[in-house]
Amino acid sequence: MSRLNKHSPLHSVIGRISQFRRRRFTGALLLLVSLLFTGAAYAAIAPSANADNGTSAADQIAQGKALFLVSCSFCHGQNGEGVTTTDGKNIGPSLVGTGAAAADFQVRTGRMPLQQSGPQGAYHKRVVFSDTEIKALAAYVASFGAGPAIPSDAAVNAENSWSTDQKDAMIQLGGKVFLTNCTACHNFTGAGGAMPNGAIAPNILNDDTRTIMEALLTGPGPMPNFSDGNLSLKEKQAVAAFVHAQRDQTNYGGSDLLSAGPVAEGLMAWTIGIGSMVGFAIWIAAHTTRTNKKKDA
Ligand code: HEC
Ligand code: HEC
Repeated sequence: MSRLNKHSPLHSVIGRISQFRRRRFTGALLLLVSLLFTGAAYAAIAPSANADNGTSAADQIAQGKALFLVSCSFCHGQNGEGVTTTDGKNIGPSLVGTGAAAADFQVRTGRMPLQQSGPQGAYHKRVVFSDTEIKALAAYVASFGAGPAIPSDAAVNAENSWSTDQKDAMIQLGGKVFLTNCTACHNFTGAGGAMPNGAIAPNILNDDTRTIMEALLTGPGPMPNFSDGNLSLKEKQAVAAFVHAQRDQTNYGGSDLLSAGPVAEGLMAWTIGIGSMVGFAIWIAAHTTRTNKKKDA
């Protein structure tokens, strides 16, 4: 007796697979699947290929320099001095004094290495470096000249040690700071919005504290920067707490109209609000005693 009984479930599965293999599109499908698989496997291996866990500061800078020369110097110059074309166009700005915070922010959010320039500079793509590599790149960029450092873990995680009262107070403070400094571009809720020149102030609701603090310290693209002199460390932590509170806010029902702010809300007010008032006015006019009298006469 053969090991594969003709009526065994295994046999029928194999039968189905070989039937499937005979279909015309199967070859193309298999090719596509294997290409995707190869691509994914390569992507998983490639970025960390040249990672080594350099520990000392000098090692880290050396590692960062090696990565920088390959991935960044084309646009930013070998020593981060920036590159301009002969007709004065900026291929990549000087990174002198932008600090580790800027490099960490730009690479960790997938903005750098830039692939295509446009009004937005760069927007979130896949992050192509490991954490160790990003730290190394940041250390190398920081070596160009003093600039904001990556916020310390203590500063980033302070939120975890606040009491409920402290947290409420911070969210309140953060709300004030946010309304004064951020709503113009990022909307009242942090949901983001369009800016002149085709740039977009992104939705920041899902950003962690480190990303928010670094964005504030470095002012990416068209965003202004808020140095510690402008917004203290405490105020930065408060803004992050406020943004997270907005994100976690329970939705008590009703449509938030995509939290898209005054335009969407105004549109609703005009069409539904004013529309129904006009309708009601017409209805009243059609049912007054005078109208009824005319009909009677
Ligand atoms: C194709 C060109 C290009 C490449 C490659 C590139 N950059 Fe950039 N980079 C730019 C441009 C253009 C900007 C300005 C973008 C903006 O203003 O939004 C920029 C901005 C930056 C900034 C922000 C500067 C500031 O003033 O805050 C940092 C930091 C940075 N790049 C680091 C890097 C690092 C690190 C790499 C390599 C991993 C890299 N870049 C690769 C073109 C490039
Ligand atoms: C003048 C408009 C403007 C103001 C004011 C502004 N931002 Fe931004 N912000 C932007 C733009 C534009 C970007 C995207 C920059 C880029 O992609 O290079 C951005 C990016 C960010 C990011 C990174 C988002 C991400 O996911 O990558 C954070 C976080 C952020 N802003 C927070 C704030 C906070 C908090 C304030 C107020 C203290 C603020 N911004 C004020 C325009 C603004």
